[in-house]
Amino acid sequence: MEVIVAKTAGFCFGVKRAVEQVYRQIEEGKKPIYTYGPIIHNEEVVRSLEEKGVRIVESEDDLEKLCEGTVIIRSHGVPRRIYERIRARGLSLVDATCPFVKKIHRIVEQYGSADEVIIIGNEGHPEVEGIKGWCSAPVTVIGSEEEAARFRGRGTGRLCIVSQTTFNYKNFNKLVEIIEKVRYDVRDIFRTVCSATEERQSEAREIAKKVDSMIVIGGSHSSNTRKLYEICKKECVNTYHIQTIRDLDIQRLP
Ligand code: F3S
Repeated sequence: MEVIVAKTAGFCFGVKRAVEQVYRQIEEGKKPIYTYGPIIHNEEVVRSLEEKGVRIVESEDDLEKLCEGTVIIRSHGVPRRIYERIRARGLSLVDATCPFVKKIHRIVEQYGSADEVIIIGNEGHPEVEGIKGWCSAPVTVIGSEEEAARFRGRGTGRLCIVSQTTFNYKNFNKLVEIIEKVRYDVRDIFRTVCSATEERQSEAREIAKKVDSMIVIGGSHSSNTRKLYEICKKECVNTYHIQTIRDLDIQRLP
């Protein structure tokens, strides 16, 4: 069997950086170490860190129970109030937010209560929740064409559009086009889809067109992985999403 490995396979820059920051804390002997939510959406990595004593803080209530230690913010980022809470409790903070996500926080925080912010992304996704937490302007999350067509907003102040970094680039442009038809005053459009995502999606699409089977390896809760799977499945019917080698039924490959 010929096996093609995508050039863009592996952790992206932001995830690699976040995981390395956790390992650095372990090496420096920091104790206890917490990550605010799983450091990345990859259960294998999370399990291996847990074995090294890294614990996960699941909620703001859990955070309130901590009296010592280091809390690491993951690559998806968190709302501003989480930083404030960590500091208020006298805990050490290591910010592993991906710089590309941080850039979105910086963009949206410039808009005031008279303005409006649209996040093109998936409601409830941790990155989107994080971005919302840096907005003083009213926020609308738009993830589908129907939602885009329904949007009217207030029509006063500035209207800023940003994207969740892992959103499909083409879909982002399509949704912006729809919004521009109902709101001709949109000027501040920030195409904050991460190029790592875009490059990976187009490489995966091209490979999927040529191969008999496509295997997408990644966490079962990862938005990146899910989107890659959907893109590949459209091009190659024998596309499988696996998390570890145990999930792969080699007999099913043609
Ligand atoms: Fe990764 Fe950061 Fe892009 S976490 S997908 S490099 S936004």
